[in-house]
Amino acid sequence: MNRLALLLPLLLLPTAAFGYPNGPTHYLTDTGPFCASCHSAVKAEYAPEFPPEAAKQELPENKHYGLVRMNAQPSPYVELTNEQKEKIINDAKLIDSKSSISLFAPRRVKAGKEMTVTIKARGGNGPSIGVMLVDRALRYQSRPVSADGWMITGEPEVKGQDGKAQRTWLERRIKGLPRNLNFVLVEEQRSDPGKDVFPEGVVTYTLKAPEKPGAYTLAAAFLYGTENTDRAGFFQRPSGRILFSEEVKVQVE
Ligand code: HEC
Repeated sequence: MNRLALLLPLLLLPTAAFGYPNGPTHYLTDTGPFCASCHSAVKAEYAPEFPPEAAKQELPENKHYGLVRMNAQPSPYVELTNEQKEKIINDAKLIDSKSSISLFAPRRVKAGKEMTVTIKARGGNGPSIGVMLVDRALRYQSRPVSADGWMITGEPEVKGQDGKAQRTWLERRIKGLPRNLNFVLVEEQRSDPGKDVFPEGVVTYTLKAPEKPGAYTLAAAFLYGTENTDRAGFFQRPSGRILFSEEVKVQVE
């Protein structure tokens, strides 16, 4: 391969309309919340394996607002006035206070039988929000549900804030590849926090229960932003968030 061919992807990158770095717009596959290492974590409990101080460092108050308030490089906020900084923080706090995710699943299922689980998420600033179906509410150690023997049997059903089914993101999978992914992006969501308008997603999965009876756990992860995406292009800007639903225990009989 010649040098230009190697450089080409790099040259093309800035021209593509990525609102944020490492964009899930083209990570069209199963994943877990570990991938969003720059996002702030809504709760310190998501990383019980960390020393308590390090887990607290991941909270918005430290990881995000700490950087916004920092008056030195490499903070991407360094040029802003104190008023602008406080506005970013207050806007993000409002978005966080309105953001939620719930997972609805049956408490019991027969081994190998199908069941439906529904994830309801609301919040973030759009234009997209991300939802994942995982085994635990753990930021760096949860796994896609399939790792535990749950088979996602088909394409998840995705609805945005207009209540209509949307398939735009899933349709970007290469033709012929299965679409039974544990991660989906809900796209083209409106946001107007002052008017209580927030992105919304209802994602329904059909799962075939594991063959092995036992007590299993499911959880949903919500990935969203709190600043405008046009300002969010800085590498490792911590304005993204990870929020988990409660863990749901399912007994496979
Ligand atoms: C290099 C840092 C970084 C990494 C790594 C990263 N993100 Fe983000 N993410 C961001 C930033 C910055 C935003 C924009 C936040 C905002 O609007 O304030 C964002 C926003 C998002 C959003 C909301 C999109 C929107 O329209 O606002 C989703 C969904 C998301 N990220 C998912 C992911 C997933 C899934 C991964 C792993 C594959 C990931 N992110 C990895 C930094 C990152």
